[in-house]
Amino acid sequence: MASDSQMMCLVVKDCKQVFQDMDSLVDVGGGTGIIANTILAAFPHLKCTVLDLPHVVANMPDTENLKYVGGDMFHSIPSANAILFKHVLHNWSDEDCAKILKRCREAIEDKNEGRKGKVLIIDIVLDRDEEEADMTEVKLIFDVAMMAVATGRQRTEKEWEKLFIEAGFMNYKITPLFGLRSLIQVFP
Ligand SMILES: C[S@@+](CC[C@H](N)C(=O)[O-])C[C@H]1O[C@@H](n2cnc3c(N)ncnc32)[C@H](O)[C@@H]1O
Repeated sequence: MASDSQMMCLVVKDCKQVFQDMDSLVDVGGGTGIIANTILAAFPHLKCTVLDLPHVVANMPDTENLKYVGGDMFHSIPSANAILFKHVLHNWSDEDCAKILKRCREAIEDKNEGRKGKVLIIDIVLDRDEEEADMTEVKLIFDVAMMAVATGRQRTEKEWEKLFIEAGFMNYKITPLFGLRSLIQVFP
């Protein structure tokens, strides 16, 4: 997963505008901070937080604009303009994702300024490449893998949309990325 995250520099390069209007970002399930550091290299004005399980981040040193928080995304997510999940939600059932997305809604609401942020999801969207049978086949293998090793699954656009609506989000935008994944921006 850590090696795969180094490809995040391509996302940052191709989707610069996604990160431009924000001051703060939390990478949920961000491990040792490879993604957060890649984003910070391109946008040094940001304040980033990596939220992961306590034992994962226990020995990670904070820097001036990167903080590691040990916690549980089902319980609470630190407040920020944007909450990022890369290859996290496909590990979890619809019921679990709904709980996590509700914590996101709380985290992106700035009660003082009335400003609302967004959720960024980098994951597979099924049925976007109908004409690319090889790509669909690989995505479906990932679907089986998530069912076998976790309680998760891959989702079609309709299935993602249903999750977002159930968690109280109003809008979303999908941008296909390199390879198998897409970037989904979800708005309250
Ligand atoms: C599949 S890995 C993805 C890692 C990283 N986002 C990437 O793409 O390389 C899932 C991550 O979620 C973390 N995680 C699992 N359960 C969690 C929870 N309840 N709260 C916060 N993080 C959790 C794991 O420790 C792991 O780092």
